[in-house]
Amino acid sequence: MTKAREQDAAFGLATRAVHAGQEPEPLAGAVTMPIFQTSTYVQEAIGKNKGYDYARTVNPTRQALERNVASLEGGRHGFAFGSGMGGIHTVLTLLSAGDHVVCGENVYGGTHRLMDKILTRLGLTFSFVDTRSTEIVAKAITPKTKMLFCETPTNPMMRLCDLAAMGDLARSHKLLFVVDNTFATPVFQRPIESGADIVLHSTTKYLNGHSDMVGGLVIVTRDDLAEQILFIQKSVGAVPGPMDCWLALRGTKTLTLRMRQHDANGRRIAEWLSSHKKVQQVFYPGLPSHPQHELAKRQMSGFGGMLSIELGSLERANQMVSRTRLFYLAESLGGVESLIGHPASMTHAAVPPAMRQAMGLTDGLVRLSVGIEDVDDLIADLDQALS
Ligand SMILES: Cc1ncc(COP(=O)(O)O)c(C=O)c1O
Repeated sequence: MTKAREQDAAFGLATRAVHAGQEPEPLAGAVTMPIFQTSTYVQEAIGKNKGYDYARTVNPTRQALERNVASLEGGRHGFAFGSGMGGIHTVLTLLSAGDHVVCGENVYGGTHRLMDKILTRLGLTFSFVDTRSTEIVAKAITPKTKMLFCETPTNPMMRLCDLAAMGDLARSHKLLFVVDNTFATPVFQRPIESGADIVLHSTTKYLNGHSDMVGGLVIVTRDDLAEQILFIQKSVGAVPGPMDCWLALRGTKTLTLRMRQHDANGRRIAEWLSSHKKVQQVFYPGLPSHPQHELAKRQMSGFGGMLSIELGSLERANQMVSRTRLFYLAESLGGVESLIGHPASMTHAAVPPAMRQAMGLTDGLVRLSVGIEDVDDLIADLDQALS
């Protein structure tokens, strides 16, 4: 089981980003964690090894990443997976047939698909509700509910759930409180401090930050949960390779720096877009016009580089996404390069159209992942694409 090192907790976030979970390698003193590209380890005798037996179960490069992100989130244990979805699947298989989950209606489309199309077949049940309202969430809880699953800010509507209120609700009903912190990252939002039992990441996004690997991370505080997740992780085997762990670990070293730039660029672009006549609405929690701006200021220390805009029609959305030059039209988010996407046909195509419409995820909605380029160049690119 990969436990965050206690000595790392004394450091600030930027120091932990660089050092937590790693120290210079003992053979040559390499300052970066080596890529332990091996499937197995020599054993000295039956039952006698150096704590490493087989690489599905344990790998030193993976452990370094697991310790690093666990420390960044303020958790006790970290578990790396071959994708964010691999981590989410593992967390949901903590449950058993007959259990019920209350989940945000506006979670990532793949999360919704996993729950609605696969896990319901295996006997789990789900209520997808508007997690902006703690009352609505409370009403959806039944005697069979075991888990509360939130994404905040949500993908792509940028809605928030009140983490402290949800944490209290989960505690009072003895529910596992799971938070997908992919959008905000531990730099801007600390779900464990608000009572989350489990924090999830698609490391593919901001934690890696360079769009060169796919991965997931699950962080927990409770030792009993960590035991169960370890058992599922090694039994199912949805683990990442050491090279991908190393890339993610390289990414986390600069996470605090990158997030500052994503945030600065995101704020400027959100403001600029809100006064553009072709843009009907901007969804960004850092704007005073965002209906949950006060909550955003309370529970986030920055707002990041994710935002969505409503252009009014599929035709206008299509025009814009095909005209940008610096904003590449692509799935994914959180990399140093800016991306533009059309959630209705890309990331959220798996969500039933009626549900998309009901939450305002229209065909005219365009999502931006604002990178760390010069913001004036990004604005010029958006300007020519909208004109
Ligand atoms: C918020 C969020 N959670 C989870 C995932 C799934 O992660 P992955 O693509 O690494 O499986 C995504 C992917 O876009 C996401 O945006």
